[in-house]
Amino acid sequence: MQPPWWQKGVIYQVYPRSFMDSNNDGIGDIPGITSKLDYLQWLGVDAIWLSPIYPSPMADFGYDIANYTDIDQVFGKLEDLERLLQQAHARGLKLILDFVPNHTSDEHPWFQQSRASRTNEKRSWYIWHDPAPDGGPPNNWTSFFGGSAWQFDEKTEQYYLHMFDVKQPDLNWRNPEVCQAMYDVLRFWLERGVDGFRVDVLWMLLKDEQLRDNPPNPNWKPGEAHEYRQLGLYTEDQPGIHEIVREMRRTLDTYGERVLIGEIYLPPERLMHYYGEMLDEAHLPFNFQFVTMPTWEARVIRQIVDKYEAILPEGAWPNWVLGNHDRPRIATRAGREQARVAQMLLLTLRGTPTCYYGDEIGMENGSVPPEMIHDPRGKGHPELSRDYERTPMQWDSGPNAGFSAPGVTTWLPVANDYQSWNVAVERDDALSFLSLTRELLMLRRSSPALTLGAYQAIDEENESCFVYLRQHDEQRYLVALNFSAQEQEIHLAIRGRGHVALSTSMDRDGAIDLSALRLRPNEGLLIEYSII
Ligand code: NOJ
Repeated sequence: MQPPWWQKGVIYQVYPRSFMDSNNDGIGDIPGITSKLDYLQWLGVDAIWLSPIYPSPMADFGYDIANYTDIDQVFGKLEDLERLLQQAHARGLKLILDFVPNHTSDEHPWFQQSRASRTNEKRSWYIWHDPAPDGGPPNNWTSFFGGSAWQFDEKTEQYYLHMFDVKQPDLNWRNPEVCQAMYDVLRFWLERGVDGFRVDVLWMLLKDEQLRDNPPNPNWKPGEAHEYRQLGLYTEDQPGIHEIVREMRRTLDTYGERVLIGEIYLPPERLMHYYGEMLDEAHLPFNFQFVTMPTWEARVIRQIVDKYEAILPEGAWPNWVLGNHDRPRIATRAGREQARVAQMLLLTLRGTPTCYYGDEIGMENGSVPPEMIHDPRGKGHPELSRDYERTPMQWDSGPNAGFSAPGVTTWLPVANDYQSWNVAVERDDALSFLSLTRELLMLRRSSPALTLGAYQAIDEENESCFVYLRQHDEQRYLVALNFSAQEQEIHLAIRGRGHVALSTSMDRDGAIDLSALRLRPNEGLLIEYSII
């Protein structure tokens, strides 16, 4: 049986506001994305996931949706999305949309009705509660963006719940009408031919019915993100959630081979439950361990990979993520030299990789002056802003990096180093970050060992390196990664003849001695080998 496309494919995340501005208003849009499909095809990715493009007051830049079945005018029209879909399909690219079921915008007509009166038929579509006896919020739950998760509504004298911004009221997923309305949203887009969904905060849809207080997180320190202040004992991963995920999956399955991806920040043991007992929930519950790990170290990375592979349910398919629109970029976290090693890791592990736009050219976090912060999480706390990883894509060395026309003020400033780090410059440089990414994608695509092959870590003594094997039938690759800035030597107890298929420096090939493998500082090697 042929594996489904999402197992062999590589997903590329586009943050639409920042990808390509076709109408020169300083904000990226759908026609802009369509104009870059040839680039994405040339790069060699297989699917595009779009962060939200629906009508929104943009309090959380599209994650606050006022209408689930249309397109925000800043991004274009429904016809533009249809055209993007058709043009993507014509190039063999899949299109995945973002589905945001936990909350709507407070400007969504459902919420407008819900807040109109306590007896409105949509009242129970959201989570309303009387004040505590002292008039304060019903319990201690805190919002991921800071402060109480409850907002008092003068008109009806009750609080509503918002786990994110005050303009993002949480829907009540215990109300079957809400569930049905949201499954209808999925069907609306499936009917139009989209290839799947990334589901926003999938593990948070249900909250404790008794509204019990969350315990504080004993490890949280002032200055750290608000979302870690409490342990989400009563707001995350609640009993009943799996029935909802199963229903979403059933809805998708009616339409053939579509993919269900869950945004789930949970420890790996708990994450695994989201594949479903019968593998009937998310195809890919996002595995964010490389995004959340505090230090970029060989030993930790190897532990993460080995444990994840070991506890993966039988038949389930792994996935790996290095970055997204919520977390500092990998080139900033690990440094640009290490980011090349990280890219080799991402694209040679077993499982579906998701690449964040710009990471393929080695983009770092941009700098955004405090007075220009847009992100609600960064308001008053510039250090927590996510704007830095959302700066415009760097296409060329011209003004505005080719993202917008010269003279246009872009919604976030273009990163300072764009003249050296952009698609046009790197395309012409055989040793560039972009050339490395493209070569890795090409090798991956053409090698069953790298796409579908088995994974096995290789034991060796060197603490700074991580070596593993990928194998399918007769095809074998060794991946040897040096996570340090020093030269390393590895002694492998492997009898075989190897030749370098690719070095992260892109300046090395030919036969290689596996019994004494030398890796230069920050070097990764992809070695094809045969047993003798
Ligand atoms: C997760 C999204 O990735 C993030 O950008 C957003 O702020 C929250 N969910 C709320 O929707």
